[in-house]
Amino acid sequence: MIADNGRTLGTTAPTTDWQRWLERWEAQQGAYMPDREERFAVMIDAIAELCGNTPHVVDLGSGPGSLARRILDRIPEAHVTAIDMDPVLLAIGRNALGDLGGRLSWLDADLRSRWSAEAGRVDAAVSTTALHWLQPDALATLYRHLGIVLRRGGVFINGDRMDLSPAQPRLAEAVRAMRGSREPSEETMAESWEEWWAAVEQDPAFVAEVAERGLRHHEHPDHDHPLDVAAHTAVLREADFAEVDTIWQHLADRVLVAIR
Ligand SMILES: C[S@@+](CC[C@H](N)C(=O)[O-])C[C@H]1O[C@@H](n2cnc3c(N)ncnc32)[C@H](O)[C@@H]1O
Repeated sequence: MIADNGRTLGTTAPTTDWQRWLERWEAQQGAYMPDREERFAVMIDAIAELCGNTPHVVDLGSGPGSLARRILDRIPEAHVTAIDMDPVLLAIGRNALGDLGGRLSWLDADLRSRWSAEAGRVDAAVSTTALHWLQPDALATLYRHLGIVLRRGGVFINGDRMDLSPAQPRLAEAVRAMRGSREPSEETMAESWEEWWAAVEQDPAFVAEVAERGLRHHEHPDHDHPLDVAAHTAVLREADFAEVDTIWQHLADRVLVAIR
């Protein structure tokens, strides 16, 4: 992708403290999700258990590579393709992490398209706090695409909020209310999502990326009405996944694993 000023987005941006931006991203995301590290750890355990020591993993909606980096720390012979369409987050990831010795690739792609990871077979597709950005039809298309991209026996591991099944309406409503009462207050956070993005816009290193971000159509996530777990499971089964279940859960935040 070429920016207006002719440079390639995310590769030769004017200098800034990329590591600091990555740390600020981690702190900001961690403030919204106090269990974030535990959820990452469970997901990586599942990759190691189900896919062995040399998996090719795609990280869907990778942001600046938070999960990708942790996978490569834990499973040094893995290869991760980090996929995202946000030029700012890709620039931070590419500049702060690079390719981690040839083990990390970056793909600027829309998950609503038929992206290709281009590094041979895919053993695992993972995602954290990202797929609730997709509308239900786009999510179903992505799951069907994963049914083709993943090798047979490969796994899909999604760490995100998925509400309880509507077959249990009182329980689902109670969990929504319990979650609401535990929601961190933005006033007490060191930096909220909005403050983080406002700060990005003040850094001249991001001028081209911020402009490009504005041109791309990023639908706003529907935080209040995420797809419930029964809907995720049904679509995964239709997409040829054999086993689907939750392996970690805190209220409606869960890690859902599907084996193709
Ligand atoms: C809240 S961030 C989470 C990032 C990262 N997974 C993490 O846990 O830190 C959601 C990510 O999903 C990405 N995303 C949303 N919709 C997307 C789409 N259609 N194609 C590619 N990436 C998308 C956003 O750009 C963003 O990086």
